[in-house]
Amino acid sequence: MAQQQLQREWRFHSNSAPHRDAQKPITTVAVVGLGYVGLPLAILAASRGYKVIGFDIDAVKAAQLDAREAAFLSDEEAAAFKKAKGLTITSHEGDLAGADAYIICVPTPVHDNRLPDLSPLESACKTVGRHLEEGALVVVESTVNPAVCEEVALPALEKTSGLARAEFFFAHCPERINPGDPRWSVRTIPRVVGGIDAESAERAANLYRALLDAEIVTLRTLKEAEAVKMVENAFRDVNIAFVNELAMAFDKAGIDIVNVIRAASTKPFGFLPFYPGVGVGGHCIPVDPYYLIRYGRKNGFEHRFLVTARRINSGMPFFTIRVLADALRQKRKALKRSKIALLGLSYKPGVGDLRESPAIVIRDALQKRGVVVRSFDPHALYESTARSVEEALKGADAAIAATDHAQFRDLSPRDFAKHGVGILIDGRNCLDKEAFEKSEVLYRGIGR
Ligand SMILES: NC(=O)c1ccc[n+]([C@@H]2O[C@H](COP(=O)([O-])OP(=O)(O)OC[C@H]3O[C@@H](n4cnc5c(N)ncnc54)[C@H](O)[C@@H]3O)[C@@H](O)[C@H]2O)c1
Repeated sequence: MAQQQLQREWRFHSNSAPHRDAQKPITTVAVVGLGYVGLPLAILAASRGYKVIGFDIDAVKAAQLDAREAAFLSDEEAAAFKKAKGLTITSHEGDLAGADAYIICVPTPVHDNRLPDLSPLESACKTVGRHLEEGALVVVESTVNPAVCEEVALPALEKTSGLARAEFFFAHCPERINPGDPRWSVRTIPRVVGGIDAESAERAANLYRALLDAEIVTLRTLKEAEAVKMVENAFRDVNIAFVNELAMAFDKAGIDIVNVIRAASTKPFGFLPFYPGVGVGGHCIPVDPYYLIRYGRKNGFEHRFLVTARRINSGMPFFTIRVLADALRQKRKALKRSKIALLGLSYKPGVGDLRESPAIVIRDALQKRGVVVRSFDPHALYESTARSVEEALKGADAAIAATDHAQFRDLSPRDFAKHGVGILIDGRNCLDKEAFEKSEVLYRGIGR
């Protein structure tokens, strides 16, 4: 740090030009933020022969990772993590000194009022800035709306490093990882990169070409790269909202939305299937559109489409509760004081991630209405109140399948009936509707 300061002062007094060497090899990579995004990347970089410093502000988490304990990795990643000798895990920011490249993978959530919370990103940039040396590369992978790199990340880096932005390389390469996806991993998903200048974009793109077995697309500006990720996730949110709206309309009309979407998918062009459900969760799709909405408003533009999509998707847990209340009424039971088995708590199959999960919204809303909820999620046992499907179902009036975990997809009407459960709300339309219709268990899907 003191040496960096001396270098800066010398340069200032000697009027020397900033020096960045775009050819200097990158041998040490620091990954800042070791969650769903950062940890798999750090493991991959180590497996490619880089010396990797994995830094996380959470000392407890860092100690667990140092002991190679991480529940959210795929089997392949977990095996590579155990073997990753070149990967050092730390929560001491001093260990970040001297890296050739810093990749920032910290959360970008929203506040309770749905406004973007950029404080983790700003804080991570300040931390990196305190150790940044002239000529190093900084890449932000965290999801941000256009202009955040220029207006938040770069000023924080400049302020704490004392360097001007022309003295280091800076790029944005939004992460597209899809936890729990057996086909696409951090190694194989194509990436886009935008830089503060052409040299930065190229240097970052070359680093990712060395890390990944996937196409790297270079964009002309940081803003374009930032916009790519926003558009991808808003696209999903809007399309899911469209089918959720259709599901609510078709529910009244007695049309099975799933049959309609499957049939529409036989058109070989111009149609993409999305399916309705209890809602949209995770750290990306229900969050990122708010960044774009806020950015639009700052520029005097109202994203009416995105606002409507958010409203529809965040209303789906309450639509599900209405479907449940209807079904109970059909069986001459009231929602209040009923006993409900909630199968699945995480926001998507195969993972235990509860962030923004609609299942949690359903659970909390039911409990507020005086319902006794017994929950089971094989990937989130720490949050479950039952240890098995059977335990959750025992004595319940109805069950809601809120997550389509593989463990639930083969449940038959008998599995419910033998515990006296007379209603199934198939919140992911993932069970065998026809089998239920032939049974005594009342089946209601979302739009079917
Ligand atoms: N989870 C996904 O599926 C996914 C997919 C694509 C993109 N993203 C984006 O990637 C970013 C990271 O998401 P994630 O899911 O990995 O989050 P995460 O919460 O799993 O992990 C983030 C980590 O960063 C650490 N951290 C927070 N502030 C820090 C700081 N100032 N310095 C160092 N470490 C800090 C936290 O302790 C945590 O371990 C977000 O912007 C997210 O939108 C996530």
